[in-house]
Amino acid sequence: MTEAQIAECPPLLFFDTGVGGLSVLRETIKLLPHAPIVYAADYAGLPYGMKSEAELAARVPALLGRLVERYKPILATIACNTASTIALDHVRSALNIPVVGTVPAIKPASMLTKTGVIGLLGTRATIRQPYVDLAADFASNKILLRHAAPDLVYAAEAKLRGEKPDPRVIREAMEGLMDQPDGGQIYTVILACTHFPLLRDELSEAAQRPVQFIDGAAGIARRIA
Ligand code: DGL
Repeated sequence: MTEAQIAECPPLLFFDTGVGGLSVLRETIKLLPHAPIVYAADYAGLPYGMKSEAELAARVPALLGRLVERYKPILATIACNTASTIALDHVRSALNIPVVGTVPAIKPASMLTKTGVIGLLGTRATIRQPYVDLAADFASNKILLRHAAPDLVYAAEAKLRGEKPDPRVIREAMEGLMDQPDGGQIYTVILACTHFPLLRDELSEAAQRPVQFIDGAAGIARRIA
C-alpha cells in the first residue's frame, strides 16, 4: 500500500510466522470483503513454537511496533496462537491500537464435546502455556489431552506452496493425540495453531473415525469485524 492509500483507508494488520494466519484472514474477509489488509509473516522467526517465552515476549512486540509505525493499521490481529498466548499482553501495552489475539478454542470445545474428552493439537510452546492450563481448569470435569505437532506447521506451509503435505507427519500428529490414555474417547479436537486448519481435510482423513475439529477463526473474525 502507498502512504496515500494508508492515510485514506487504514488497513487491518494480520501477523503470523507464515501462512497460518490465512486461516483467520479467510474468515475475516467473509465478513469484511472490502477491508484493506496488510499480512505480515515473520518467516525469519518461524517456527515460534520452538522458541522460548522470553524470546517471543521480546521479538513479537518489537516487530509489531515496527509494522504499526509503517502501515498505521486501525487494528492488529496476532493470527498465531503461540505469539498470542505468550506475548499478547506485551503487545497490547506497547501499541495504541486495538490488538486481537488468537487463543486455543478450549472454552467452545468444552461446550461442544459429547464425550467429555477434548484433544488439543498445538505447537510445543502453546501447549505448555498457563492459558491452556487455566482454560482446562475452567472446563471442569472435562479431560483435555494435549499433543505438540510442530511438523504440521511445515506440512501446512508445503500445502500452500502447492506441494503434497507429508502423510506421515499428519498421521503421527493424530496418533500422538489419539493414542494417549483416554484418547479413544476424543471426539472434539481443537486446532490450536493457525496453520492447522489449513490441513483439516488431511487430519480428518488420518483420524480414521469421525472427529469434530474446531478452531477460533470464525470467532476471531467476528471480533475483528
Ligand atoms: N501459526 C502459529 C501458531 O498459531 C505458529 C507456527 C510456528 O511455530 O511458527 O501457533
